[in-house]
Amino acid sequence: MGKGSKDKRDLYYRKAKEQGYRARSAFKLLQLNDQFHFLDDPNLKRVVDLCAAPGSWSQVLSRKLFDENIDTDSEEKKIVAVDLQPMSPIPHVTTLQADITHPKTLARILDLFGNEKADFVCSDGAPDVTGLHDLDEYVQQQLIMSALQLTTCILKKGGVFVAKIFRGRDIDMLYSQLGYLFDKIVCAKPRSSRGTSLEAFIVCLGYNPPSSWIPKLDVNTSVDEFFQGCSFNRLVISDKLSHWNEEERSIAEFMACGSLESFDSDATYHDLPSSIANTISSLDPVQGPTNPPYKKALELKRSGKLTRSV
Ligand SMILES: C[S@@+](CC[C@H](N)C(=O)[O-])C[C@H]1O[C@@H](n2cnc3c(N)ncnc32)[C@H](O)[C@@H]1O
Repeated sequence: MGKGSKDKRDLYYRKAKEQGYRARSAFKLLQLNDQFHFLDDPNLKRVVDLCAAPGSWSQVLSRKLFDENIDTDSEEKKIVAVDLQPMSPIPHVTTLQADITHPKTLARILDLFGNEKADFVCSDGAPDVTGLHDLDEYVQQQLIMSALQLTTCILKKGGVFVAKIFRGRDIDMLYSQLGYLFDKIVCAKPRSSRGTSLEAFIVCLGYNPPSSWIPKLDVNTSVDEFFQGCSFNRLVISDKLSHWNEEERSIAEFMACGSLESFDSDATYHDLPSSIANTISSLDPVQGPTNPPYKKALELKRSGKLTRSV
């Protein structure tokens, strides 16, 4: 599919470029915020964007904190964005090229915050897919768990955590684990997220871990060990976690986000809004690739030095 036809077919892709966002995912965070208003809090100061490249969520955070919520002293506000990939600079955002699963990354974020806790953490993480469905789902679950573990070490009491999930078979286990730590958990589906995809977002409001529980980020700690000592309703998590009864599992409230006037990302629009229909040519990307893995191959190809090994 050419660049031009994608501009017409995927309206969020087009709108992202019109509004200067590096990716269409910006609208997912914006529509989640339209529903929950977590970014409209004028007291929001320290914010972390995990798995942030190319940076459209960080752009939303930057615009919200520094262009819209202008009541709070800008000096006190800080946005840290972390990704394995390098990111081009975004105003008011400190970028870290780092692995969110590594404990050193936590130390670096805390250092940037002067050891103060964060008010809001989000994660739109997705690993590179292999095509092996079970393996991909497992790696995605591990990434969410890593984001959650890092978040528990960095989020202030009452803070908010938002993360991308895939509603696979074992998702209710994750809802239960989140239930130990937050006052309210909602599974939200923004209109800009394709209905045909299992993608959704957990919105975890009011971080409220048990007072006796101390989160630890250690690569050698299993998930069961991490939650050891957490209590949830009458249930005390022990080494019997894996022997849970079905009725002790949680089901999160489900909410569709984005007004009905918002574009439906799965629909084909015959009567395009004039702002789009009148524009025949495609728009250039907002941000070119930073250092793509294929850059060297292109250079070798141009100089005629690319050889195929047999
Ligand atoms: C869907 S993209 C995020 C898009 C981003 N929210 C935006 O709006 O531009 C997923 C990102 O997760 C990152 N990622 C995957 N595993 C990671 C890890 N262990 N540590 C840091 N980033 C990771 C990938 O490099 C990729 O850039």
